[in-house]
Amino acid sequence: MLAIMGAMDEEIELLLADLQAPETLTFSGVTLHKGTLEGVPVLLTRGGIGKVNAALTTAYLLMQGATQVIFTGVAGGVHPELRVGDIVVSTDCVQHDVDVGALGYELGSIPGELPAWPADETLRAVALEAARDVEGVRVLDGRVASGDQFIASREGVQRLWTLFGAACAEMEGAAVAQVCSKAGVPFVIIRSVSDTADHDANVDYRTFMPLVARHAKQVVRGMLARLTPQA
Ligand code: ADE
Repeated sequence: MLAIMGAMDEEIELLLADLQAPETLTFSGVTLHKGTLEGVPVLLTRGGIGKVNAALTTAYLLMQGATQVIFTGVAGGVHPELRVGDIVVSTDCVQHDVDVGALGYELGSIPGELPAWPADETLRAVALEAARDVEGVRVLDGRVASGDQFIASREGVQRLWTLFGAACAEMEGAAVAQVCSKAGVPFVIIRSVSDTADHDANVDYRTFMPLVARHAKQVVRGMLARLTPQA
């Protein structure tokens, strides 16, 4: 079954409103909505903010039979060409706040784990195709950098760009990626740019987040239409 996850209500509410035959599954701290969207059986959920919430929710999704995971939401743009409203489809994900450097590990590397988790090629291709249908926005194929930090400074952006080659900054994608990769479950992260993670990020985020969350949702709808088995 296809799972669709966002971090906040604004990121999933538009999809939730369209969910057919909805059923609610509740676990400690996690609510999953089961139903169909565009005729595709789905599990839909708001996972909450940050890597721990994202990992917990992903684990429940997998336990409930998710075989593919799409994350939809907003992010701070890091790539210099990105503007508010643009869309990033993940090539891979890194955890920019992991630092085991004192033991000789590269920044972002968890000992014994992959340094970055690659997204599924098929889901990526479908997401890119669907994203290109959203009018008036740039679609970028790039690295998603996750950490338990809201990035709101030029130095922060510069760090993610130079050290990680990140396209965007957010707070969940790499946790979803890590859990899915361990289980061998394909995933993709789709992020719509709500701010450019610099000194105005907090203001831009509050202003544009609900608006641009629609772009990510449009991409998910476009993906569902493409994933619907043709009669
Ligand atoms: N989500 C949206 N904007 C963000 C930012 N600037 N940093 C981290 N997560 C974000």
